Amino acid sequence: MYSAKQISLLALVLAQLLGVINCGVYDYTDTWVLSDKTKNFPDNAVLGGFDPNGYDNFVGRVVYSSSILPARIVAETGSASYNTESLANTATSYELLVANDTMSYHWVHSYDGYREKNAVSVGTSYTNERVYVCRCRTDGALFIGTLYPAQRTCIVRYGNLPLRQLEKYEVLVRKSKLAKWQPLLV
Ligand SMILES: *[C@@H]1O[C@H](CO)[C@@H](O)[C@H](O)[C@H]1NC(C)=O
Repeated sequence: MYSAKQISLLALVLAQLLGVINCGVYDYTDTWVLSDKTKNFPDNAVLGGFDPNGYDNFVGRVVYSSSILPARIVAETGSASYNTESLANTATSYELLVANDTMSYHWVHSYDGYREKNAVSVGTSYTNERVYVCRCRTDGALFIGTLYPAQRTCIVRYGNLPLRQLEKYEVLVRKSKLAKWQPLLV
């Protein structure tokens, strides 16, 4: 028989193991490049929107507190902003989503946590939920936000602006293209 102490120790070890398994896991379906302001900005980064300062925002992702979250990257400053379901934050290191000759990215109108086909997932959250990339118009900007399908809203929080949770938004989806047809030269 195990003592109560041994059992509680075992429970603790198990809880920690589960914690490790549930920690934010990156999704590798798409191509993301690690970047920061010292690196050249990739030509094929995916445009997502613009912030209230008028800067274009490209699609990125960051890891924060065991969650992988979508991020808004500004090419001119090399900075990133992102939000959890409640907090606004910034990051100096991030990954940028890049398109290529066979894969392109588009925004489709969606609502209410509907699971769009081929939606781009950045990875999982600390609760092991898939996290998707959404965007919506609010506060004079077109913000890239965080979509947890179970919460049925596109969540945006930027700087000192209030937390926004929109039921109608756009979702980022991938679309594969046929490789360019090469004509035979005769
Ligand atoms: C294009 O991107 C897709 C998705 O990230 C990837 O699977 C594929 O290998 C890439 N193709 C090239 C030619 O890099």
